[in-house]
Amino acid sequence: MNIVTCIAPVNIAVIKYWGKRDEKLILPLNDSISATLNTEQMHAKTTVMTSPEFKEDKIWLNGKEESFDNPRLQNCLKEIRRRAKENVNSEGDIDCSWCVHICSQNNFPTAAGLASSAAGYACLVYALAELYKVEGDITAIARQGSGSACRSILGGFVHWHQGSASDGSDSIATQIVPESHWSQLRILILVFLERKLDSYRSKCSLGMQKTAETSELLKHRISHSVPRRIQEITEAIVSKNFEKFAELTMKDSNQFHAVCLDTFPPNVYMNDTSHAIVSLIHAYNNALGENKVAYTFDAGPNACLYLLEPDVPQFLSVINHVFPPASQTSEYLKGIPVESTPVPKSLVTSIGLEPQESGLLKYVIHTKVGRGPQILTESNQHLLNESGQPKF
Ligand code: DP6
Repeated sequence: MNIVTCIAPVNIAVIKYWGKRDEKLILPLNDSISATLNTEQMHAKTTVMTSPEFKEDKIWLNGKEESFDNPRLQNCLKEIRRRAKENVNSEGDIDCSWCVHICSQNNFPTAAGLASSAAGYACLVYALAELYKVEGDITAIARQGSGSACRSILGGFVHWHQGSASDGSDSIATQIVPESHWSQLRILILVFLERKLDSYRSKCSLGMQKTAETSELLKHRISHSVPRRIQEITEAIVSKNFEKFAELTMKDSNQFHAVCLDTFPPNVYMNDTSHAIVSLIHAYNNALGENKVAYTFDAGPNACLYLLEPDVPQFLSVINHVFPPASQTSEYLKGIPVESTPVPKSLVTSIGLEPQESGLLKYVIHTKVGRGPQILTESNQHLLNESGQPKF
C-alpha cells in the first residue's frame, strides 16, 4: 500500500525544554520529561500517500493547503527517505523519488496553543516511517520537525535526552514507564477566554532563541536545576510519589516562566487568569495539607493540571466555584466524564478565594496518560481519496 494514516498524541512536559544548542537540527540545551496524553481525547491525525502519478509534494493542514516550502517539514522527509534507502530489507515497492501528499488535522483547537506541533510532527514522522518501512529509532527524526514532537512518539512518561553528538544522533527520546504504570494519574487542561490584550503576548519560536541568547538565569537552570530535577522526578514517577512529582512539576513550570521573563525583551506567556489558577492551587493544596494538584504552563496562558483520579470531582467543583463557567453545557467539560460533588463550605472558607467573573474559563479537557501513535487500518479513515486529494 502507498497510503498510511495514523493518529498521534499530545504531550505535556513536567520538566520543560527551552533553548536550543543547534537551531537547524533542533538540539536542546537541556533534557526534558513529559507525559503523553491519551489519544481518545486529543490527537493529531495524518494521512501520507506517495504515487508515481503525483506531480508535486503537497500538504493540507486543518482543512487548508499550506506551502511545502518549510525547512522543518523538508528535513523530516529528507531524513525518512535517507533512512529508507539505507534499509536493505525494505520490499522496495515505493520509490523515494515519487512525490508525497500529506493531509493532517487535529481533533482539538489549535488556537488553544496546546502542543499541536508536537502531535502533528510526531504523527507525520510515524506515518512516513510506516509508509517507507523505516525501522529503528524515529524520535530523532520527529525532533527535527519540532523538538517536543520526539516525546510524542512514545507513550507513558518520556525522557528526551539532550545528547552531546553534533549530528544529533543521541538526542533521542526514551520511555521511562508505560501508560499503564500510574493508572490513577489524571490531567485537566483549562482553556481560558482570550482577551484582546493576549494577542500582544510573545510567540513561542522566536522567544526560545532570545532566551538562549540573553538569559543569565537559563545558564543556572540548565547546569543546576534541570539535571537534579530530571533525576528526582524520574524517581517520583517510578515510585508514584505524587507529593514530590507535583512539587517538581510546579517548580519547573515556575522556573521556565522566570527564565522567559529574564529574556530580553521578556517573553510573557501567562496571563492574569493563569496566575489566579496558580494561587488557587496553592491555596487548595495548603487547605488540604498536601500537594493534591500540580500546575504547569507552556508557552501560552492555558493551564495543564496533574492530579489523582479520586481528587478530580472535588477539585473540579472548586474550579467551578472560583471560575464559574458561562454555561454548564456538555461543551464545557470535554473528555472523561466526572460526577459533580458539592464543595464543602469549610474548604471554600479555608481556600479563601472569591468567585471570579463567569466565563473566564472557556472549557476543561479531562484526560489521562496514554500510549504513543497508532496506525489506522480501515480505508475509510484516510484523509486523502484514491487520487490523493483531501476528502474534506
Ligand atoms: C514550552 O517543541 O514547540 O512546550 O522545537 O522550536 O518546535 P520547537 O519548540 P517546541 O517547544 C515546546 C516548549 C514547551 C516546553 C516543552 O514542551 O518541553
